[in-house]
Parts: sequence; structure tokens; C-alpha cells
Amino acid sequence: QEEERTMEQRKIVVVGAGFVGMTCAQRVVEQGLGDCVLIDIVEGRPQGVALDLNQAGPVVGYEGVVTGTNDPKDTDGADLVIVTAGLPRKPGMDRSDLLDVNAKIILNVADYVREGSPQARVIVITNPLDSMTHLMRARTGFAPERVVGMAGVLDSARFRTFLAESLSMGRREVEAMVLGGHGDSMVPVRAYASAGGIPVEELMAADTFDAIADRTRNGGAEIVAHLKTGSAYYAPSASAVAMAASILNDERRIFPAAALLNGPYGLEGVTLGVPVVLGSAGVERIVELNLTAEDRAALHHSGAEVQADLDLLAEKGLL
Ligand code: APR
Repeated sequence: QEEERTMEQRKIVVVGAGFVGMTCAQRVVEQGLGDCVLIDIVEGRPQGVALDLNQAGPVVGYEGVVTGTNDPKDTDGADLVIVTAGLPRKPGMDRSDLLDVNAKIILNVADYVREGSPQARVIVITNPLDSMTHLMRARTGFAPERVVGMAGVLDSARFRTFLAESLSMGRREVEAMVLGGHGDSMVPVRAYASAGGIPVEELMAADTFDAIADRTRNGGAEIVAHLKTGSAYYAPSASAVAMAASILNDERRIFPAAALLNGPYGLEGVTLGVPVVLGSAGVERIVELNLTAEDRAALHHSGAEVQADLDLLAEKGLL
């Protein structure tokens, strides 16, 4: 029996109070999405961040309360869970190097989300994104539509930013979609990139487009190389919270996001970035685009890479 909840009463849990988690919590309260419980294994960290964020409330003008905790019990009854817990990539480290260590964290989080928040919708940010989303879905046993991964929105935002810069056009004018896994095999789709409705193909040379697609594929690593310790967090948290808002407010916006595929694009039993409609049920619909043979092959190649991660996890008894 789902009772009506006002925005203030909504409970949004953010797991992991590192850079991505703390900026997610900030955006959740600043955007008035509800109250936020921030949980981490490090004692004091989420409590300190919560105090700081609550004290920004009177200045910025929000009433949502952030609670910092180390106790999974405090996450019970969540409407939505955003999972950022995990180690970030270090320079020279591939996302798949994170597979083992982050898988164990995801299993731990999945267990208390399943027990304490059986109604929750879940957004996963932890890398390697596609396999961690898959693992979270499998371990919770939640319906596939209720667990979705944040990567495509971020990769597309990077793509849109670079395209807009190159075109000297406003960033919001540019729409573009990056599909596939969140890794080197991601697929920036040429045919669905547009500016003010005009296909980008008509506005820029093919080699310029290709260079921008390459920079997009390397977008996360480019930031890691500058930062040296840690990885991006502003655009990742913005992307995840836009997805959260679409779910919580039943906005039914369309985003590229990682969803479990059982049929679409000819893919079976693998979690991969595709266009989805996000509403109160989570993934309301998976949209199947008419891809060129080249893009479809690239998507399948990306799916095979994610499948390899899943096989590795299964070998280790983690999936
Ligand atoms: N439960 C809760 N929090 C945990 C757990 C756990 N089981 N294990 C680790 N953490 C916490 C760490 O203590 C740390 O505070 O997760 C936090 C991760 O924060 P950062 O190291 O700052 O990493 P961040 O940059 O936030 O990235 C988090 O998002 O983009 C991805 O690749 C990135 O997987 C990484 C994740």
C-alpha cells in the first residue's frame, strides 16, 4: 500500500559520501527533491557533510534535511537510492580494474537495500558502471525496471559540451546521445546528434565529429589526468540527480542509461546504455533506435565487453 508522500517527506538515500555522493546530496536538497540520508563506512564523514549541507540551507533557501550515518538501518524505507560507494579510478587505472573491489561493495549495499527498502528505485553510479548496475539488479532481485545505471547522461553531456564548443553554439541547443557501455567502447551516435533540431552532420565536417567523439570516449580519463587523485563529480552528480528527479516526479524524460536488456537491440541478459524513459516505475520504456549497421556493431562490441566483466564476476562467485 503506497501512501502519498509530499516532496518533503520523500526519502532519498545516497550511498557513499565521497565527492560524487556529497554533490548528489547537495543537488537533492537544493532541488527540493526530498530529505536525504547520506551513508558511508567512514565514521564522521557523512555526519560532517550533513551538518555542512544543512547549514547551507538557510543561505541557499532549502528545507530538505540531510542526515549523515554509518548505520544501514537508517536507510530503511527509501523511495530512491543513489549508489556512489566504491573506489574511483586512479591515473592509469582502467574502469575494469575496479571490478573486484567495487563488486564486493555493491553486494553489501544491495543486501540492505533489498531488506530495508523493498520499494526503492535504484540509480547506480559506481564503476565499472554497467556491470555494477547488473550486479545490483541481480543481488536485489528487483524488477529490471527499478535498477538503472548513470553513465549515458554523463557521456552525452560531455559530447554535447564539446559539440557546442566546436559549433560556437549554446550548450542547451545541442542534443546528442552516447549509447553502450561506460568505457572506451561507448558509442556516440552520429545520426542522433543535433543542434536546434538540425543534424550535426550538416553543421560540421565528419573528421571534426570523429575527433569530438574520441574526446568524449576519453572524457573521464582527461579529467582524471588533470586531477591526479580522484575522478569527476560535478557532471556525474548532475546527471544522476536529473535521472532521480525524472523518476521521483514521474517526468518521463528520455535519457541514455544502463538498463538490463532482454531482447532490445538483439541483446540478451546484459546491462548496457540505451535510451530509456524514466518515470515513477523507473525504466518505463526502452527505446529501440534504428541504428546504422556500424553503430549497431559497435553497440554489440560494447555489450560483449560488459558480458566479459559479468563472466569474470560469475567465475569469482560474485554474480
Ligand atoms: N558503503 C558506503 N560507502 C562506502 C562503502 C560502503 N560499503 N565502501 C566505500 N564507501 C565510500 C568511501 O568511504 C568513500 O567515501 O564511498 C566513497 C567513495 O568516494 P570517493 O572515493 O570520493 O569516490 P567518488 O569520486 O565519489 O566516486 C565514487 O563513482 O564515478 C564513480 O568511479 C567512481 O566508482 C566511483 C564512484
